[in-house]
Amino acid sequence: NTLAPAHPLSSGTTASSRLIGAYQGTRQPVTPVWFMRQAGRSLPEYRELRVGTRMLDACLDPALASEITLQPVRRHGVDAAIFFSDIVIPLRLAGVDVDIVPGKGPVLSAPVRTAADVDALTAVDPASLDATAFAPIIEAVRLTTAELATLGTGDTPLIGFAGAPFTLAAYLVEGGPSKDHIRARTMMHADPGAWARLMDWTADVTGAFLRTQVLAGASAAQLFDSWAGALSLDDYVTHVAPASARALSHVRDLTFEVPAAELTEGDDALLPTSRNVPIVHFGVGTGELLKAMHEIGADVVGVDYRVPLDEASRRLGHVVPVQGNVDPAMLDAPWPVLEAHVLDVLGRGASAPSHVLNLGHGVPPDTDPAVLTRLVEFVHGL
Ligand code: CP3
Repeated sequence: NTLAPAHPLSSGTTASSRLIGAYQGTRQPVTPVWFMRQAGRSLPEYRELRVGTRMLDACLDPALASEITLQPVRRHGVDAAIFFSDIVIPLRLAGVDVDIVPGKGPVLSAPVRTAADVDALTAVDPASLDATAFAPIIEAVRLTTAELATLGTGDTPLIGFAGAPFTLAAYLVEGGPSKDHIRARTMMHADPGAWARLMDWTADVTGAFLRTQVLAGASAAQLFDSWAGALSLDDYVTHVAPASARALSHVRDLTFEVPAAELTEGDDALLPTSRNVPIVHFGVGTGELLKAMHEIGADVVGVDYRVPLDEASRRLGHVVPVQGNVDPAMLDAPWPVLEAHVLDVLGRGASAPSHVLNLGHGVPPDTDPAVLTRLVEFVHGL
């Protein structure tokens, strides 16, 4: 399953970028930087484009989704685009009646609370999510990667993403946002069989969404398990990690041919001629889970702002590239405070094999975009 030669990774367009290099474990002379939720309400050009269009409709409009994805690359000069979509899109395409309520998040008309609810949901075959169902996603990714190839140095990768099964199941079972995800965590123990069926189905649906983005042109993938921090390590390992590994299995077999130019240096007989598509795994409040989150088959671990990167790297045995973890609360602090914090994050990130600078969670909607631009310039100028 080697990605076709026209894929940006196989053609070499993005393979030698800072981002992909760092994700593969090679420390870069200039630390790559991008921001979770870089496309969104912090940008006036985003708010303008979104007027009159509901969030999920915007995600399914290829031209609009592509344009929104590109806005932060043009404005900030970040080292990656992240596909503008939402973790609930594959659920919606599988027929789940879910909407995103402004200021609140995903809300379902019919939460999945009982074994019968799980059976009704999982009666939809994840394989029905084929190229036809995902057509708007494929089109949006193609438009985006074609345009990225013409911007700046032409090597900016697109990161595809998906929600991890637990975070999606938390929305499915709760029916909306929740603080402690108690109903989802209860089902896990009250009916482990129904829970496992729910998780496997969700893994295949979200895995298909991720695979679609990579095949269409994304050069890396990020799995968001935003709410995994609600779990004990035991529950994570027993009831969640197998489904997350299953979701990643949909992209794990995808490899890209190493561009010939990279193979010319010396004794390349020993160098592999194909490489995995790099996968980042991120969660919030997951300091206790970092090692387990790596072990499901991720290449890079995204760290939230609660655990310093040197400590995160220690927990990962100092062998795993890390991404993070500027505290989003610092973005509105006076510049010298933010600058000192960023230098501290970079210093601690040096204890991992390689580091991609990011926030510890998404860009807050009221962030001054000029601060993000300045931060990118600062990191690139070091
Ligand atoms: O990071 C990016 O720039 C890419 C786009 C992206 C969005 N959602 C766009 C979005 C990504 C990667 C996501 C993932 C996502 N969606 C997660 C995991 C990441 C995380 O933040 O922990 C989660 C938990 C969701 C579910 C979700 N969607 C929430 C909680 C919300 C916020 C609701 C609100 O209005 O406050 C959304 C909506 C959403 N997804 C917005 C964007 C830009 C805001 C909607 C808008 O602009 O009207």
